[in-house]
Amino acid sequence: MRLIKGSPPCGHQRGVAPDQLSAHLSFRSRSRLRSCSVRSSKRMSTKDTDQISFDNDGQRLRESRYSELFQVSVEAILRNQSASGAIVASPDFAQYHFCWLRDGSFCSYALDRAEEYEASSRYHAWVNEAIGGISGIIDDVIEKMLRGERIEPSIMPPARFALDGTSVIDDWPNFQIDGYGTWLWSLGQHLRATNQLTIPKEWLSSVARASRYLATFALTPCYDVWEESGTAVHTSTLACVYGGLTAAAVLLDDSTLLESALVVQRRLSESIVNGVYTKSSENGDVDSSELWLLTPFQAVDVSDQVFAKTVTTIDDRLSLDGGLRRYATDTYFGSGAWPVLTASLGWHYVNIGNLVEAQTCLDWLARRFDANGNLGEQFGGQDRDVRHYNEWVDRWGTPAADLTWSHAMYVILADAISRASGGAESRLTTKQVGADDSSSEVAK
Ligand code: BGC
Repeated sequence: MRLIKGSPPCGHQRGVAPDQLSAHLSFRSRSRLRSCSVRSSKRMSTKDTDQISFDNDGQRLRESRYSELFQVSVEAILRNQSASGAIVASPDFAQYHFCWLRDGSFCSYALDRAEEYEASSRYHAWVNEAIGGISGIIDDVIEKMLRGERIEPSIMPPARFALDGTSVIDDWPNFQIDGYGTWLWSLGQHLRATNQLTIPKEWLSSVARASRYLATFALTPCYDVWEESGTAVHTSTLACVYGGLTAAAVLLDDSTLLESALVVQRRLSESIVNGVYTKSSENGDVDSSELWLLTPFQAVDVSDQVFAKTVTTIDDRLSLDGGLRRYATDTYFGSGAWPVLTASLGWHYVNIGNLVEAQTCLDWLARRFDANGNLGEQFGGQDRDVRHYNEWVDRWGTPAADLTWSHAMYVILADAISRASGGAESRLTTKQVGADDSSSEVAK
């Protein structure tokens, strides 16, 4: 039975056992996290402002709330990291009781920003083992590709693993190369954050293997970051692959990987239609995940006007109650607004120096935490498109009420704003978050 997540629900059932272990928390005071104070923005609706409670010193309350939620989110990521180092995508949604390279690698980057280096390192060690476990699969498909053989997508390396690092043999749309790129990027960030100038010896072969895999399949149609549309080349996948290959080129000191990255970057021009980067080779609309083209993967330049227009188009077309949906024709749980994407937009705004809009995105996320500190996958789908919402509920139950990747993006955005707005006292120490040594969060 083949399950394609973008297809209409038709009563499929899946389910796996959860594995969720608590991790200790060594959280330092985040009182230095502070927000910028500009309020007015088109992204904040009246409904939103009603939900904010102020005391006599509203600003102080807001600031403490951001710090508190930062801590809540770091704790959530740590709590959802299993002893193996894997980070479960969601503890409450059976379909997500796995570790995706995509989600996990953003989570480990958030852990680095929160100075939780040991936890981040355990995640990377886990990926190293997981890739070691599928080395035969990776080598085999690379050889087949080089020999020009036809390859069934179902035999490609997986997008997600069981928490013990074993690959799950099932009919999930596994061929998603973006996660391997995001992992290499995240590993590069981790090594820089922890001042490791070289890759630990025991990780070398998996880094080399993942890079070779990416270089070989970089332009091959595959499923996208939403695990859909397996016959297209996706723009945000290209961004992730570019980010991974450029990171690996440095880590392995291998200029051929940089050449492959440049090929990927040049391919982006084919995605341009009517002055914007389109979602994919098969879809002329935009997708919010294209925000990653600049932040964090730097496949385009900050001065790229096509990208600027793409961002405006994403914001115009995909806003829902101040948050961002994935893409216009999305139906997954009625297509609500995603914290992951709204935070990505905010992160972009930090990078171009627009802290007002960045802060508004953070506000939007801050108001989506529930009373227990959960931050869900998406919001508003039920009101936007009740028919599809209900179809997905019938199929898989209610959507993830707590998504680890959502927490990660809250941490990343809160920290990025803090660093950009607060000066030395509110920054993570500059030595750690390597991303910004090169890319800067404030546009150069
Ligand atoms: C999303 C993926 C994500 C997975 C686990 C899916 O619904 O489309 O991007 O990796 O959930 O969170």
